[in-house]
Amino acid sequence: MVKNNETTAHNRYIFLFTAVRHHGEYEWQDPKSEDEVVNISFINKDGKHVPLRGKVGDNLLYLGHRYGVEIEGACEASLACSTCHVYVKEEYLDKLPEPKEEEEDQLDLAAFLKDNSRLGCQIVLKKNLEGAEFTLPQATRNYYVDGHKPKPH
Ligand code: FES
Repeated sequence: MVKNNETTAHNRYIFLFTAVRHHGEYEWQDPKSEDEVVNISFINKDGKHVPLRGKVGDNLLYLGHRYGVEIEGACEASLACSTCHVYVKEEYLDKLPEPKEEEEDQLDLAAFLKDNSRLGCQIVLKKNLEGAEFTLPQATRNYYVDGHKPKPH
C-alpha cells in the first residue's frame, strides 16, 4: 500500500517535471527561416511597447516569458486562472479561433474584462497575426493557487 502511494507520488512528480520542462521549450527556439517569423508586440502595464520576433506555433504566454514580459501564467496554460489575460488589438480579434468554453469561464473571472480580452496562453502564433499587439491589463486576479490571496500585480 505504501509502495503504491510512493509510486503514485513518484509518477505525479515525473508528470509535473515533464510538463513544466515542456512548457515554453518550443518558444525558446529561434525561427528556422524567415517564412515562420511572426512579429508581434506586447504593451506593458506602464504603456511600454515591447516588439518581439516570434514564430508560427509559439504560445503567446511562453513567448512573453522568454522575453521577460510581465505576463504571469500561474496555471501553466491549463485554463485554471486568468493571470495570462491580454487585450488583443481589435483588428486581430477575428484572426483568432473562437475561445473555448473554459477560456470564457476564466475570462468571466478576470479583472478589467473588455470586449477584446483573451487568455494569452490560448493564443498560438500564425502568420496572420503578423503585426498583432497584445496589451497587458493593469492587474490580474488569481484564484488558482491554493491559499493565495489575490492582489494586483
Ligand atoms: S496561464 Fe492560466 S489560464 Fe492561461
